[in-house]
Amino acid sequence: MRRYVKKGSILLIITFIATLLNACTAVNQYSNASQAGKKEFKVGMVIYNAEDTFIGYLRDMVAYYIELYEEEAGVQIELEVLDSANSEELQNNQIDHFIKEGYDVILANTVDRADASMIIDKAQRAKIDTIFFNREPVPQDMKKWDRIYYVGTSAEEAGRMQGEILVETINNGLALDKNKDGKIQYVMIEGEHGHQDAILRTYHCIKVLEENGLKMENLGTDSGSWLKNEGKAMMETWLEEFGDDIEIVLSNNDDMALGAIEALKEYGYFNGEQWMPVIGVDGVDEALEAIENGTMIGTILNDYDEQAKCIVYKLYQCIGVNDLEIDISTEEKDNYFWVKHKKVTKENVDTVKKHTSILKK
Ligand code: BGC
Ligand code: CA
Repeated sequence: MRRYVKKGSILLIITFIATLLNACTAVNQYSNASQAGKKEFKVGMVIYNAEDTFIGYLRDMVAYYIELYEEEAGVQIELEVLDSANSEELQNNQIDHFIKEGYDVILANTVDRADASMIIDKAQRAKIDTIFFNREPVPQDMKKWDRIYYVGTSAEEAGRMQGEILVETINNGLALDKNKDGKIQYVMIEGEHGHQDAILRTYHCIKVLEENGLKMENLGTDSGSWLKNEGKAMMETWLEEFGDDIEIVLSNNDDMALGAIEALKEYGYFNGEQWMPVIGVDGVDEALEAIENGTMIGTILNDYDEQAKCIVYKLYQCIGVNDLEIDISTEEKDNYFWVKHKKVTKENVDTVKKHTSILKK
């Protein structure tokens, strides 16, 4: 299923002709990559921080799919992945290194969204196609050059879906309003400030809940920088301050939600007597397990499998391989790939588990 779609012979001939045509245009269009006859390519990938669980999934999936399609594409790709360890300066040096060493394509997960501008200028000067992912450059930057691309998800959609899961769970009988004061007291663990996914996920989650007639009362909102230990520390502070007055824990991602669950366990929750609804985003393994065992109400799948496939699909196009048919369900529109989210609850958690099974092989 994750293989190339096999085609009949007529289509093969068409593909062959298309490849020839592509090869011709590619030479003009791309000066670095796609030089006629070139079979070996170097791809440089920077990730903002290797400690980030979700980014780790994306990195591994991209490496997996690059390798999977090499033979079919008849090329060899050397992938170098560099960890920018949350340092903009280090990331800039890493980009300079890719340029100096004549890399053919850059895959960029920026430390700061605002850095995209500088990376685009450098890539354009060196004529190196660049695919940004997960950290979305601002639209003005994306317009700077036509050989830059973005693969990501809609932050609004993830937030909305979180709200919808909660509304559905309430409709199915979950009583959130423990103290029966007509309001839902919540805490919100946010991602890194400045990240498109932090502000928008929060805003749209609360909006959906309010649109459905719930009165939401915020007890605390803080940034846990996407990290589990920070989510845990934040939850400890709130539990000290508000105790069981908290009626729900909302989190911009799974890792911070899982950190909050660790804190909740230490404060006596999930031991059969006390329970707390917690929801995240991403669909990482540990969250899927938490959904199965009832410590998480749900999550939103930030489809890393599909995102990795889109990145790899575009990457092959950038090096002039246009005849690969990868089974992606996302269309490219104006250099953007917007991958759809999916709601995950106890009912469908099984179907999502296959996503990470590739990584465990
Ligand atoms: C994910 C987070 C991740 C962040 C990194 C978000 O889309 O939901 O888990 O830490 O991207 O940029
Ligand atoms: Ca209440």
